Amino acid sequence: MERSMDLNKALILGIESSCDDTAASVLEINSKGSEIKSSIVHNQFNLHKEYGGVVPEIAARAHAELIDIVVEKSLKSANVVIKDINAIGVTAGPGLIGGVLSGLMFAKGLSVSIKKPLIGVNHLAGHALTPRLTNKVNFPYLMLLVSGGHCQFLIVHNYNSFERLGGTIDDAPGEAFDKAARLLGLKQPGGPAIEEAAKTGDEDRFDLPRPLLDREDCDFSFSGLKTALMRKQNELTKKQGGLFEKDVCDLSASFQQAMHDVIVEKSIRAIDLYSKITNRKPTFSIAGGVAANKKIRHSLKNICTTKKVDFLAPPLDLCTDNAAIIAYAAAERFLHGDYDDTTLSARPRWPLDDQKPAILGSGKKGPKA
Ligand code: KG4
Ligand code: ZN
Repeated sequence: MERSMDLNKALILGIESSCDDTAASVLEINSKGSEIKSSIVHNQFNLHKEYGGVVPEIAARAHAELIDIVVEKSLKSANVVIKDINAIGVTAGPGLIGGVLSGLMFAKGLSVSIKKPLIGVNHLAGHALTPRLTNKVNFPYLMLLVSGGHCQFLIVHNYNSFERLGGTIDDAPGEAFDKAARLLGLKQPGGPAIEEAAKTGDEDRFDLPRPLLDREDCDFSFSGLKTALMRKQNELTKKQGGLFEKDVCDLSASFQQAMHDVIVEKSIRAIDLYSKITNRKPTFSIAGGVAANKKIRHSLKNICTTKKVDFLAPPLDLCTDNAAIIAYAAAERFLHGDYDDTTLSARPRWPLDDQKPAILGSGKKGPKA
């Protein structure tokens, strides 16, 4: 197919269904850059809440039932019809396989019926390229992806070239926040609930570990922290028969502080490592739900100011799962004439950096990249 570099305008339909958000977006790319024409996100939170986590089978079925409705909404909201679309970008992994398949099968059918290119997007690339969508950041730059399913530092060299500097060897940080909240009887999603409870809590009351800070690298581990929190909670329950509100607030504050300290310290190391590898200072960007945490966000901004490094935190609705970032990642490939066809397969695991050995562990979305 022809290279599309000098198109005046193209419309990309993005589709996302890798976890518990069914999302569709219409993105316009033109000579000035890109513009989100619509972004519809349907969260399945209510379907999963009684199970305390995302149930893959329920998620897959809900995606399959909703995807056409969400796509139609996104077209309507962008004031376009399906034949105006120039290409379809769809998450092809990593993620819960049933959900990814629901989106991919729909996208394939659409691509065949409207005779427009199909572009399979790595969900992580969608997050990693967000600073180019929001701020037209030039390559290369440093990215910290901190969500409920993922946690990694990446040097983004190009739209199709990523170098992983480190990541979690067990839980993702959002997952750790969610498990901690469950343990403390707080509502889901756990991150915002812990953040709220921590506001009036004493972060020094409980001495919780800062895992892997003794290792020089940029890897994380969060499962030991969760176990340490459980131990403190058990001790208190044994001693006084349960938790008082003050205990919940103090445990939340101590837990948040430990998460914060680890993420901030490892970010300092990642910035230094980036400078060593590339011989220049990075632009440092974050994405993922945990990037919404005010304490973490604030400190990351501060370390960047101290290190004279540009800091970028995309708006929250583009940090969390959505289809505009998927449409944008597809747009980068579209502009290079880089398309897929209907043999494209869904991948539950799809590391962005194939050169690095796999990181152990499994998250909310399945095995870690
Ligand atoms: O990126 P996201 O919307 O979905 C994926 O996991 O891909 O991230 C959701 C995660 C949840 O685990 C949630 O608890 C966490 O982000 N989160 C937060 C905050 N807001 C959301 N964690 C800490 N502090 C927050 N304010
Ligand atoms: Zn995500």
